[in-house]
Amino acid sequence: MKIVNLLETQQTRDSDENERFAEDIKAGLSSTPKSIPTKYFYDETGSILFQKITGHADYYLTQAEFNILDSIKHELAKIIDSDEIDIIELGAGDGHKTELIIQGFIESGKKVNFYPIDISEKAMQQLEEGLQKHDALSIHGIIAEYFSGLSYVRQHSNNHQLVLFLGSNIGNFSKTQSKEFLLHIRDILSDGDYALIGFDLKKDIPTLVKAYNDSAGYTSDFNLNLLTRINRELGGEFMLEHFQHYGNYNPVLGAMESFLISRKEQDVYIANIDQTVHFDAFEPIHLEYSFKYLKTDIDDLCYYTGFHPIKHFTDDHERFVDSLWQIKSGGND
Ligand code: AVI
Repeated sequence: MKIVNLLETQQTRDSDENERFAEDIKAGLSSTPKSIPTKYFYDETGSILFQKITGHADYYLTQAEFNILDSIKHELAKIIDSDEIDIIELGAGDGHKTELIIQGFIESGKKVNFYPIDISEKAMQQLEEGLQKHDALSIHGIIAEYFSGLSYVRQHSNNHQLVLFLGSNIGNFSKTQSKEFLLHIRDILSDGDYALIGFDLKKDIPTLVKAYNDSAGYTSDFNLNLLTRINRELGGEFMLEHFQHYGNYNPVLGAMESFLISRKEQDVYIANIDQTVHFDAFEPIHLEYSFKYLKTDIDDLCYYTGFHPIKHFTDDHERFVDSLWQIKSGGND
């Protein structure tokens, strides 16, 4: 695998990131309601716990998307009809799902250039180790933020491009953030390029609630790990047993929401921001939105952001959709 690193040195990034983490925690825990930005879930332990969540049957999303991609891989290669394709994945992922898509193109006699874009070099290397080598596959890891990585790849290749944003990652953005994110991607891409985006569908509420309260307790550990991270990286004094995970569906927003709830009135000191945070009994810290979609919401988002809808691919139980969009000159008329 060739690797291009578009980020500044790891050391500068680590110290910038620690400062930003401190600022975000200070702001989030001083606001009402208290909150912690979702992006801080994924330290090393958080990433391992997330892998465990995705492997648990209660978290149906991963298996549903895997089944979809397995059944459409050849159809996808037929729709995207070019002899050579650039597949660009936003986020390195664990590779299992992407591998299916790559396989579909290679088995259809096409050459694939795969560009995972991620800020973590380690995630990139793990991804590569898991991918099967093939003469028709070349892998170019891009260590970068999504937009700069995508612009880089667009500028360095003339092939048609397929951008993957799988796993319902879009669901962790608010509706406004998703529009801005997709508009930005649309601006970078060229006429004829494609995007395949994974959306979790609205469904019966108990199924949703179970997915975010798995019976093994991985989701609870995933959320509590944020407090461990604050303790380790910012000198926090959170006692994990004094907080409880709570995940519930908000039908007005159409989103699962997760919280940590303070089990009692308490004060928690965080050394690096020199602040004592007061919690009332049963006060929540908001951690995450996971927005759920109707197919019509997906179409609206597609048109709004200037893409042209090609097809919704769904699983047998209609739990999840991978939606294929294209950029067509002359817009959507
Ligand atoms: C990464 N993301 C799509 C997951 C989700 O479903 O919102 C994160 C997650 N949080 C709890 N379980 C999984």
